[in-house]
Amino acid sequence: MYRTIVALKTTPANPEKGAFVNPNKALWEKGDFTEIAAFMRQSGEAVIQSLGITPGLRVLDLGSGDGTTAIPSARAGAEVVGIDIARNLVQAGNRRAAEAGLTRLKFQEGDACNLEGVADHSFDLTLSVFGAMFAPKPFDVAKEMVRVTKPGGRIVMGNWIPNDPTFVSQLLKISSAFTPPPPEGFISPMLWGVESNIIERFGQAGVPKEKVSLVKDTYYFASPDKSAIQFIQLFENFYGPTMNAVEAAQKSGKAEELHKQLVELAKSQNKSKDAGTFIPATFMRVTVSL
Ligand SMILES: C[S@@+](CC[C@H](N)C(=O)[O-])C[C@H]1O[C@@H](n2cnc3c(N)ncnc32)[C@H](O)[C@@H]1O
Repeated sequence: MYRTIVALKTTPANPEKGAFVNPNKALWEKGDFTEIAAFMRQSGEAVIQSLGITPGLRVLDLGSGDGTTAIPSARAGAEVVGIDIARNLVQAGNRRAAEAGLTRLKFQEGDACNLEGVADHSFDLTLSVFGAMFAPKPFDVAKEMVRVTKPGGRIVMGNWIPNDPTFVSQLLKISSAFTPPPPEGFISPMLWGVESNIIERFGQAGVPKEKVSLVKDTYYFASPDKSAIQFIQLFENFYGPTMNAVEAAQKSGKAEELHKQLVELAKSQNKSKDAGTFIPATFMRVTVSL
């Protein structure tokens, strides 16, 4: 159902030379997630405040984007590495870190499915808020997160939940309904929001289920001056999965219908009392104690 997310088939970057691009990387480099992340700063900071970060803690932020959680972690005194598959977001993160004068924070390109070059047991906290859930090989992701985290350390993930009635789950559901089916073997990222899948993935990585805690939490997309309609336009123009849906809908003559459904969703979920946006979205907070 949530099949848009990595619905692109592997496509030749240059068909004549036969070079192939990674569709997972292409999806996230397609747009500019910083436009959406601008609405996520407040909740990103709240997540970090809830984690009790202490100076000197070694934090890995996986699928870090431009630093929604990595920057507040570094501000709290942690030594932070942000790893993301999208080159443009790594660049944006390093720009933001430099502007903020944060010298103990660096962003680098990498794939959550294979953290080659990252040493075993090198982080106290491995964090991934709506990041690693989008990597295509979830069992490898769980193994890698466990491998790079120190014994006694923590893994914390924020994952969207399939069929949840709140904003992001519904946005992805609408987007997928307008997008062609994914390639065979595709595993929906939304399964990272399902208890049995989470337990199985960490189980195969050697973590017993007693060490995994699952709690539903709420994230807020907020802007004091951008309306819910402007927010949707940003998804249509800058968010890979929705951009794919828009392209497919344009081809099938359903672009207006897609836009209407997205606007209705955002307006009906917007709790802002003025011209801005304040949209809650439920997610699964996963805490793994190693
Ligand atoms: C929804 S965005 C969230 C970004 C950031 N965590 C935030 O809260 O602003 C998902 C992020 O995961 C990254 N991502 C997707 N697949 C990945 C993979 N296989 N390895 C590393 N990062 C990945 C994307 O490039 C994107 O930055």
